[in-house]
Amino acid sequence: MKSSNERRQIQLAEEEIKKYASIVESDPNRLRYHLMPPVGLMNDPNGLIYWKGQYHVFYQWMPFATTHGAKFWGHYTSHDLIHWERQAPALAPSEWFDRNGCYSGSAVDNDGVLTLFYTGNVKDDQGVRHTYQCMAISTDGLHFEKKGVVIYLPDGYTAHFRDPKVWKYKNKWYMVVGAQSVQLDGKVVLFCSEDLIHWEHIGSIAGGENGTFGYMWECPDLFHLSGKDVLIVCPQGLQPEGMHYQNVYQAGYFIGQLNYETGQYIHGTFTELDRGFEFYAPQTMVDEHGRRIMIAWMGVPDQDENKHPTIYYRWVHALTLPRELILIGDKLYQRPIEQLQLLRSEKVQYPNVSLQKEKRKFDGVKGKTVELLLKHIDGKGVLSINIQHHVSFSYDFEQKIATLERESFARNGEKERRQCALSSLQTLHIFIDTSSIEIFLNEGEEVFTARFFSNEENEDILFQTNEQVTFHLYKWKLC
Ligand code: FRU
Repeated sequence: MKSSNERRQIQLAEEEIKKYASIVESDPNRLRYHLMPPVGLMNDPNGLIYWKGQYHVFYQWMPFATTHGAKFWGHYTSHDLIHWERQAPALAPSEWFDRNGCYSGSAVDNDGVLTLFYTGNVKDDQGVRHTYQCMAISTDGLHFEKKGVVIYLPDGYTAHFRDPKVWKYKNKWYMVVGAQSVQLDGKVVLFCSEDLIHWEHIGSIAGGENGTFGYMWECPDLFHLSGKDVLIVCPQGLQPEGMHYQNVYQAGYFIGQLNYETGQYIHGTFTELDRGFEFYAPQTMVDEHGRRIMIAWMGVPDQDENKHPTIYYRWVHALTLPRELILIGDKLYQRPIEQLQLLRSEKVQYPNVSLQKEKRKFDGVKGKTVELLLKHIDGKGVLSINIQHHVSFSYDFEQKIATLERESFARNGEKERRQCALSSLQTLHIFIDTSSIEIFLNEGEEVFTARFFSNEENEDILFQTNEQVTFHLYKWKLC
């Protein structure tokens, strides 16, 4: 049973949804096939799980404002990762151990009981932060009962200790938590349990030393893929380095091996997952087909949040499309999940396009909700694709650099860009959804994710080159 205080919080959130539904839905920038908050602010995806025939996606949610605050766990379910149903909020801040927020966490199936782990965030009367790793359970996947604190802050860390991700390995449960050491280095801390209730603190398995790699690591996720152990994590405090680390905070991964006996994680270097502007706090799950699927927040903390035009319609942010992760060598590839094809209608194709020093539109290749696929790309000079006169992707065949440029919505239309090195470009797979774009290069070798806000009528897609480029072009209307 939920406490009366939690029930009251959930009721207030439901009232907020009703109150602003028509304003939220009237926003021309509202997305058509991405998960968004029904009202208020959405951030991290939480508790991703395929459970009893359904996908569950929970998320960090502030129902009462478009700013961060005491977070709820919002909840969506789906049978196919494409069509989603909103469910009642799963968790609301209400108890002494989570009164300032049910922060990020994860879900596991414990013998048929859907079990959530999350961080109880508390600011005491002096404004001092406290953190508790908490548990909640459900037998129907819809109603959740809090079970209280399972882990208190171990010695050696500050109260920036959060985002438990739990998994099972050989009959034992393991948990990684994002942390900040008392020396102010970002860390990932490992715990182990027989019963999900009593947890043994094994120690830090990865992190910076002496301020070398960020002051806090958030949202860790550790999983086995193609014989290796992948650790996804979000370090805060990295300085920009050339084309790297251009956003306020980063999301990326290490490839390594975790020794479950010793708790040692031997790993390679950090690689960013996304090259665009808005991507953070990814989490993964395995589904019925054994696929490792990742969803991230299409936003970044402390990055121009209050400048999104959607806040006038009382909502802000969204989640990325679900992406299947494939490990090739030591590189994670991200592929838009296959079920997205269910959204396709109205196909237009132009086999054997050849552009020569020109700018061109193609009949039928435009729209607000569009999937574009360019295959067998080859060329000289620069290929650029301009979308709604607001955002453009280009590839320089000579410099071997991919660039995403947009008109900044935070700084009066000023141009801003993100770039990455790419030795060749063969395919481009682009998903446009009203005010979001996700660009998959070479079957997910690199990805650019971003929001952009053009004006309502604009649906143009322009192709341009200063030399010569050839490709096959396919376009689908989506939804
Ligand atoms: C990441 C994060 C998490 C925290 C949550 C709070 O975006 O800061 O570390 O649990 O958001 O909403």
